[in-house]
Amino acid sequence: MIGSGATVGMSGFTGSGYPKAVPQALARRIEAERAAGNPFRLRVWTGASTGPELDGALARVDGIEFRLPYNSDPIARERINNGEMEYLDMHLSQVAPMAWQGFLGPLDTAVIEIVGITGEGDLIPSASVGNNKTWLERAERVILEVNRWQSADLEGVHDIYYGTALPPHRVPIPLIKPTDRIGQPYLRCDPDKIVAIVETDAPDRNAPFSPPDENARAIAGHLMEFFGHEVKKGRLPASLLPLQSGVGNVANAVMEGLNEGPFENLTAFTEVIQDGMLTLLESGKLRVASATAMSLSPEAAASLNDRMAFFRDKLILRPQEISNHPELVRRLGCITMNGLIEADIYGNINSTHIMGSRIYNGIGGSGDFARNAYISVFVSPSTAKGGKISAIVPHVSHVDHITQDVQVIVTEQGLADLRGLSPKQRARVVIEHCAHPDYRPLLKDYFERAMRDSYGRQTPMLPGQAFAWHQRFLDTGDMRP
Ligand code: COA
Repeated sequence: MIGSGATVGMSGFTGSGYPKAVPQALARRIEAERAAGNPFRLRVWTGASTGPELDGALARVDGIEFRLPYNSDPIARERINNGEMEYLDMHLSQVAPMAWQGFLGPLDTAVIEIVGITGEGDLIPSASVGNNKTWLERAERVILEVNRWQSADLEGVHDIYYGTALPPHRVPIPLIKPTDRIGQPYLRCDPDKIVAIVETDAPDRNAPFSPPDENARAIAGHLMEFFGHEVKKGRLPASLLPLQSGVGNVANAVMEGLNEGPFENLTAFTEVIQDGMLTLLESGKLRVASATAMSLSPEAAASLNDRMAFFRDKLILRPQEISNHPELVRRLGCITMNGLIEADIYGNINSTHIMGSRIYNGIGGSGDFARNAYISVFVSPSTAKGGKISAIVPHVSHVDHITQDVQVIVTEQGLADLRGLSPKQRARVVIEHCAHPDYRPLLKDYFERAMRDSYGRQTPMLPGQAFAWHQRFLDTGDMRP
């Protein structure tokens, strides 16, 4: 049912709800075909990252020719960075509409994990929704994986909205509050397209989160102070505004910080629900979380399955074109909090590339949210790799978020509120509040020389030296002189 060169749309988003059996069977087949002298590679589309049974298994046998829109699998990452796999890193809200536009090509087969099929033939979605609605609609044929490991109580958690269209037929999306349900609990699929149903009983295999360290706790502390200040000034309500929290360890730690903070009656309009958000739901600080996927540690995933009855009316899982929709993010006034690889003194952010050329994960939904946020926050430790790398640099080696889309940067050193500041004012605040003391004098030195010698004085820059730290790291393994 899946031939070499086929485009396959798989379910799966940040390690949940991805098919577990078919991709591994495909990997075995790819190996066998290759041994028989028949090259066999696929184009793979998903919601976002998946798990070792999908990206890992297919990348291990070099079975992926082209991949979109997000990856965090280490084997696939290595293939991409070795130039062995083409990778298209896309804004996650744009995948479905762009698949409909048609330039990505036809979709041959959809492989979708579900929890069950109702008597009426509707599909009960799994722990992530992602692009499943679109894959089921666009694919020529469909293979379903019915996973008994997923909780049957997931039925009713989802809100699948069927009202999207391409221009000129687009209409406003009737979602006013994060708690609103605007669609139906089930995915639909033309039964004539379903060519196979595979039963599985296999857990989602998310990576565990590191427990919040001192840096993560300091970052969370600075943010809580900032939120408190904004409430006191009357710029934020006491229950804040709908929160979006990105992927990664630091973002997860910020959620845990909110659990100890004074804010009550919170809501989340976000992309993924991580461990920290479940804790917030459990404590009652968070009323409801709207997202497209669960992204839990193995322990939290098991515990959620056991306690789904408690969580079910507090969770809403939507297609990613809705969970990440720019119009909704802007209208709801989300406070967005995302991780970064590096930020520069002017507030541009690199979320994706190491030393300008090696991909780490991808932009994910960070652009969907940050670009349209009420307050766009980026968080990170001020250094990486034991201090050998500064996360605050003279110039980012790759740009994902331009300075206009970045209002607050937080490291364990402090918080830079960049709202209303010009580039030179931003640089002083970022250096003073966010840079690590080992790098602060070096950044000051660069900025002062740029102020003196730069071609212009609006955004002082010395092109020949702006990437000197990156080059030094590549030459010596340390950004410091
Ligand atoms: N240079 C080199 N490596 C760096 C680095 C830098 N400037 N900054 C971080 N890293 C490395 C860390 O050392 C760590 O490496 P390891 O896996 O070998 O241990 C890794 O990147 C992750 O860093 P960590 O500090 O643990 O951060 P995190 O888990 O919070 O993730 C991002 C940070 C940026 C990778 C993550 O947030 C991400 O992928 N963002 C893009 C997608 C996104 O924002 N999605 C949200 C939409 S809802």
